[in-house]
Amino acid sequence: MKKVYVRTFGCQMNEYDSDKMVDVLRAHDGYEKTEDVKEADLILFNTCSVREKAQEKVFSDLGRVRHLKEANPNVMIGVGGCVASQEGKGIISRAPYVDIVFGPQTIHRLPSMLKERRKPGKKAQVDISFPEVEKFDNLPTPITTSQSAMVSIMEGCSKYCTFCVVPYTRGEEISRPFEDVLVEVATLAAQGVKEITLLGQNVNAYRYEQDAEVIEFATLLDYVSDIPGLERIRFSTSHPKEFSDALISSYRTLPKLVDHVHLPVQSGSNNILEAMKRGYTREQYIKIIKDLKAARSTVSISSDFIVGFPGETDADFEDTMSLVDEVGFDGSYSFMYSPRPGTPAAGLPNHVPLETKKQRLSRLQTKLSNNASHYSQLMVGGKFDVLVEGVSKKDSSKLSGRTNNNKVVNFEGQERLIGHTIEIQVTEALPNSLRGIVVTRA
Ligand code: SAM
Ligand code: F3S
Repeated sequence: MKKVYVRTFGCQMNEYDSDKMVDVLRAHDGYEKTEDVKEADLILFNTCSVREKAQEKVFSDLGRVRHLKEANPNVMIGVGGCVASQEGKGIISRAPYVDIVFGPQTIHRLPSMLKERRKPGKKAQVDISFPEVEKFDNLPTPITTSQSAMVSIMEGCSKYCTFCVVPYTRGEEISRPFEDVLVEVATLAAQGVKEITLLGQNVNAYRYEQDAEVIEFATLLDYVSDIPGLERIRFSTSHPKEFSDALISSYRTLPKLVDHVHLPVQSGSNNILEAMKRGYTREQYIKIIKDLKAARSTVSISSDFIVGFPGETDADFEDTMSLVDEVGFDGSYSFMYSPRPGTPAAGLPNHVPLETKKQRLSRLQTKLSNNASHYSQLMVGGKFDVLVEGVSKKDSSKLSGRTNNNKVVNFEGQERLIGHTIEIQVTEALPNSLRGIVVTRA
C-alpha cells in the first residue's frame, strides 16, 4: 500500500483540507496515511501564508525532505494551500524538486495531477485555479470513527480586510449547496459523530439560493440542529459584520449551539478598524456581544487580535486593551501585524517598529491569559458536560475532553468513555486546561 504524509500549517480550514487530501488519495489510489515522513511515497505540505513566518517555514521544511527525494526519485513531493496559491510556479523555481503545486480549491485533482506528473518526460504540475464548488462534488463521502467532525459550508472570503491575503489565496466567498451540507452532517451523525464544527472563513456569510429563496446561516443552523444524534454544533470563523439578529436569536432557540463564539475583532480602535476595512465599529461590536449575552448569558467569547497595524498609536492600542476588559474575552489569539505582499496595508505609511509591536503583543497576551485563567477559575467546583475526545496528550494515564464553552478538561477515566458525554466536576484550573473528576458515567 502506498503511503502519504501530510504536514499541515495554519487554520482549521487547512486541517479540514488535509483530511480531504487523504480521503481523495485513499479513494482513488489506495493511499494510506503515515506519520513517518521517511516511509512516505508522497509528501504533501498544506501551507499557510497569513503571516510571513508561516510562509518562510514552508521553504525551510521543504529543504528538509529534499534528501528523501534524492535518495528515492519515486517519492513525490506536493505543495498545497495558501502559499501554493500565492506563489504558483514560483514554488518550483525556488524548490525544483517539488512535483506538484495545487491550491485550496484543487485538492480533488490531486490523483490526476500525480498521474500526469508520472508520465515519462512530464514536468512539475501546477494547478491553483478556483473551480468554484467543483471540489466538493468530487470528494468522497467522509468516513469517521471520531465523536467530532468538521464540515465545510463555504469557501473563500470577499471581505478584503486590508491586511489579509485570504481573499487572494482562497478566492471569493462561495457557499456549498444547502442540501449537500445537510447530507454530509447527517452522514457523519449516522456514523456516531456527536459534535459538528461548521467551517468557513466567514460562516455567517453563508447564503445559498434555492427555489428563489435565499437560505442564510441562521436557517442552516436550524436544519443542522434537527439532525438526530448530534449533541453539539460549533462554527468557525464568524465575522462581526454579518452577525445578524437571526443568528443571535439562534442562541435562544437552539440548545445544541455551544456556549462559545469565536468572533475576531482585530482591534478596539475605530481608526484602526476603519484602516483595516473591517466594516464595523467598536460600538457595533460591543452591541453584538451584549445582544448575544442577552440571548444566552453563559456564552463565552474568544477573538483574534492584531497589534501594530500601520499607524497604530499608543492610544489606539490602549483602546484594544480597554475593549478586552469591557468584553471579557476568554482564550483568544493575538498576532503582530505581518505585512503581506499584494495587500493594501503593506503599502501604508507609518509601519510600527518591531520592538513596539513586541511590547504591545506581550501586554495584550498577558491580559488575555489572565482573563482566560479568571474564567477557568470560576468553573472550579462546578459540574459540566464534557464530550470525551481521547487520551490526554500530555498524560497518557488521563482522558481529555471539552466543555460546552470550549475548555479542555483532563481527568482519570476508562477508555470506554471516549466518544461519550459525561458529567465532570472541575477540581483545578491550570493555565491552559482544567482538571476534574467523573461525576456520572456514560
Ligand atoms: N475570517 C476570519 C475573520 O473573521 O477575520 C479570519 C481569518 S485569518 C486567516 C485568521 C487571523 O489571522 C485573523 O483573524 C487575523 O487576526 C490574523 N491575520 C490575518 N492576516 C494577518 C496579518 N497580515 N498579520 C497578522 N495577523 C494576521
Ligand atoms: Fe481575512 Fe478579513 Fe476575510 S481577516 S479571511 S479578509 S474577513
